[in-house]
Amino acid sequence: MNALVLFIDFSLNSTMKKKVFITGASSGIGEYLAYAYAKQGCFIGLVARRKDRLDQVATQCSKFGGQTKVYAVDVLNGSDCKKAIDDFIALPGEMDTIYANAGVGSPDGLSSGSAEKMNHVLSVNILGVTNTVMPFLPHLKEIRKGKIAIISSVASFRGLAHHAAYSGSKAAVRNMSQGWGTALHKYGISFTAVCPGFIKSEMTGDNAFPMPFLMETNVAVQKIMHAVDQRKKVFIFPWQMKYFMIPLMKWAPDWMFRRFGM
Ligand SMILES: NC(=O)c1ccc[n+]([C@@H]2O[C@H](COP(=O)([O-])OP(=O)(O)OC[C@H]3O[C@@H](n4cnc5c(N)ncnc54)[C@H](OP(=O)(O)O)[C@@H]3O)[C@@H](O)[C@H]2O)c1
Repeated sequence: MNALVLFIDFSLNSTMKKKVFITGASSGIGEYLAYAYAKQGCFIGLVARRKDRLDQVATQCSKFGGQTKVYAVDVLNGSDCKKAIDDFIALPGEMDTIYANAGVGSPDGLSSGSAEKMNHVLSVNILGVTNTVMPFLPHLKEIRKGKIAIISSVASFRGLAHHAAYSGSKAAVRNMSQGWGTALHKYGISFTAVCPGFIKSEMTGDNAFPMPFLMETNVAVQKIMHAVDQRKKVFIFPWQMKYFMIPLMKWAPDWMFRRFGM
C-alpha cells in the first residue's frame, strides 16, 4: 500500500508542470525568457504593466506549448505584486524559477533640478526587485527549493556618468542577490545576479551610442537560463564584457571616462 502511495506521489510530481514567474515579460529579455520556458512546456506567470503586450506574449507562449497567466501589475505596487504572487503560487505545478527582470533606464537629468526621473529608476530597479522576491520566500523556504534570478547589469561595476542612478540600482540588486543567496542557501534557494552587456530590446533600441558586443535577445536568454539552472551566483556575459570591459571599468583612470563621457 505504502509503495503504491509513493508510486502515485512520484508520478504526480514527475508530471507536475514547472512554474516560472517573470517580471518585465511584455518585451525584451523577459518576453524571450517566456518563449524559451514555453518551449519547455512550463507554466509561466507573465508580469508587466502593458496588458495588451502581455496578452500577445501569452498567445505566442501557448503556440510554443506553454501555459501562462497574465498579471498586469506595476512592480512598484507591493500589494498588487503580493496578490499576483500568492495567486501564482496557488496554481497547480511546482515553483521552479523567479526572474526579477523588470527594469527601466534613463539619464539622471543632472540639470533638471528634479530627482523625479532618478527616483523612478531607483524605485523600479530596486523596490521592483524586493516586491518580486520577498513574497515568494516563505513558500520557497517551505518547499526547500527554488531558483531566483535578479537581472543586474555590466553597468553595475562602475558609476556611469549621466546614468549613475541606473548603474547604482544595478549594483544594489547585485549585492542584495549575493546577501540573500548566502542567507537562504540552507533552504535550497539559489540566487543568480545576471549581469548582461548590451542585449537587443526596447531599452537598447533607442541608444544612439555604439553598443559593443550587442547580443540577440534569444541568444542572451539561452545563456541566462543555463547560468540560472547551474545556480551560478553571478553571471556576467558576454565574455568580452567580463574579461575586458569590467576590468577596464574598474581600473581605468577617471580622465579616460571623462574623455568618452562615460
Ligand atoms: N537590454 C540590455 O542591454 C540590458 C543590459 C543589462 C541589463 N538589462 C536589464 O534587463 C532587464 C530587462 O530589460 P530589457 O532590456 O528587456 O528592456 P525592455 O524591453 O525595455 O523591458 C523592460 C521590461 O520591464 C517592464 N517594466 C518596466 N517598468 C515596470 C514597472 N514599473 N512594473 C512592471 N514592469 C515594468 C516593461 O514592461 P511594461 O512597460 O509593460 O511595464 C518591460 O517588460 C532590465 O532590468 C534591464 O535593466 C538590460
